Amino acid sequence: MGIESSCDETAAAVVANGEQILTNVVASQVAIHARYGGVVPELASREHLRKIQPVVNEACGRAGMNIRDVDGVAVTEGPGLIGSLLVGLVYGKALARALDKPLVGVNHLEGHIHAVLLENKMGRLAGKISEDAPLPAVTLVVSGGHTSLVLVEEIHPSATAQSVAFNYKRLGHTRDDAAGEAFDKVARLLALGYPGGPVIDRLARYGDAQAVDFGRIKMKGNPLDFSFSGVKTAILYRVRGTPLALEAEERQAWRRTRDNVSIEELRDRCSQATLDLIASFQRAVVRDLVERTLAAAEATRVDSVFVSGGVACNSLLRDRFRDASRMQGIRALFPSPGLCTDNAAMIASAGYYKLQAGQLADATLTAHAALPLGQESQGRSQ
Ligand code: KG4
Ligand code: ZN
Repeated sequence: MGIESSCDETAAAVVANGEQILTNVVASQVAIHARYGGVVPELASREHLRKIQPVVNEACGRAGMNIRDVDGVAVTEGPGLIGSLLVGLVYGKALARALDKPLVGVNHLEGHIHAVLLENKMGRLAGKISEDAPLPAVTLVVSGGHTSLVLVEEIHPSATAQSVAFNYKRLGHTRDDAAGEAFDKVARLLALGYPGGPVIDRLARYGDAQAVDFGRIKMKGNPLDFSFSGVKTAILYRVRGTPLALEAEERQAWRRTRDNVSIEELRDRCSQATLDLIASFQRAVVRDLVERTLAAAEATRVDSVFVSGGVACNSLLRDRFRDASRMQGIRALFPSPGLCTDNAAMIASAGYYKLQAGQLADATLTAHAALPLGQESQGRSQ
C-alpha cells in the first residue's frame, strides 16, 4: 500500500511486487485551489484530512482486498508541504502500527523516478515492451514543486540476496521557481486558469513559438541547475501596462461567469499576441529542460534519460525529448500521464524495493518539508 499527500493530491494505491498496479486512487484538490491560482497550504491539509481514509479504503476495496492483506505500508515523508505531508504520514504510520505491518518512508522525488520504472515494468507485463528500463539513467523530475536532475543507479546491497536498491545523486536543481510553477504563474498572469501547464500546453498550439525570443537561460556555476524566474519576469514586463493586461482582465471577468471553459472558448478569448507569447514561453522552458537534461546525460556518460513529474505530461516536452535524444543516441522514457502527476502507485513501487531490501522506517518516522533525496528515514542513523 502506498500513501501520498505531499501537495494537493490525496492518493492511495495497491501495487503487487512493485510492478503491477492493482488500484491507484487519486483525489485531486484542483477545484479547491483553482480560484486562488495556486495551492493554499492550509486548505490542502484540511482536505487531506477529509479524504485520506476514504481514499485508502477505496484503494483496498477496488482491489478486492482487506486492508489486513497488505504486506507493508509506504508513505511519502518529504519533500512537500509540511501540513499536507503530515496527514498521509501519520495515517500510514498508524495503519502500519495497527496492522503490525512494516513501514517504509519514501522520498517524493524517488517516487517520481520509480514512476518511470513502474511504467516500464507494466509495459513488460502487458507484453508491449521487451526491454528493461536501462540504468543508470539521468532523471529529470519536473513538476509544480520540483525541477531536479538526478543520476539513478541500481545497486545490489548483498551478493547473495535478490533485492535491489537504488542510489541517487543530485546533479542539479532549480534555484528559484520550478518549471510547473512558472507555467502556473504565467497562466495566472494571463487569466488562463489553474493549473496552468495543461492549458498552456493546449493553447500554445495556436501560437507562433518563434514570435518572442527569450534567449537561452544562462546559469553561473553549476550548468545543470535551472532558473525560470527570469523568463517569468520577462513575460510580466511584456504584459504589464499593455493591451495584453487589459485583455487578461477581461478574460478574468468572463471566466468568473463560467463554471467550465473549453479550450476553444478560451482560445477565442485570446489575441494572437497572447497565444504567441505563451507558445514562445513554452518553447523557451522546454528547450532549457531538454538541453540541460541531455547535457547531464553526456556529463555522466549514460545513454538513457527518464522524465517524470506533472510537466512531463507536456506534449512539446515529450516530442522534443524524443527528437533530441534520438539524435544523441539516447533513450528517453516517460511514465503515462496518470503516473507523471502525483500518485501513490509510484510511492508503493519505490517502497516495495525498500521493503525487500529491509530499509524499514521505525516509530521516529516524521515528515520533512525539505528532504534531500537519499536521506529518507532508513538512510539516516536513528
Ligand atoms: O507532479 P504534479 O502533479 O505535482 C507536483 O509535485 O507539483 O505536477 C503538477 C504541475 C503543475 O504545475 C502543472 O501546471 C504541471 O505539473 N503540468 C503541466 C502539464 N500538466 C501538468 N505543465 C506543462 N504541461 C502540461 N501538459
Ligand atoms: Zn510530485
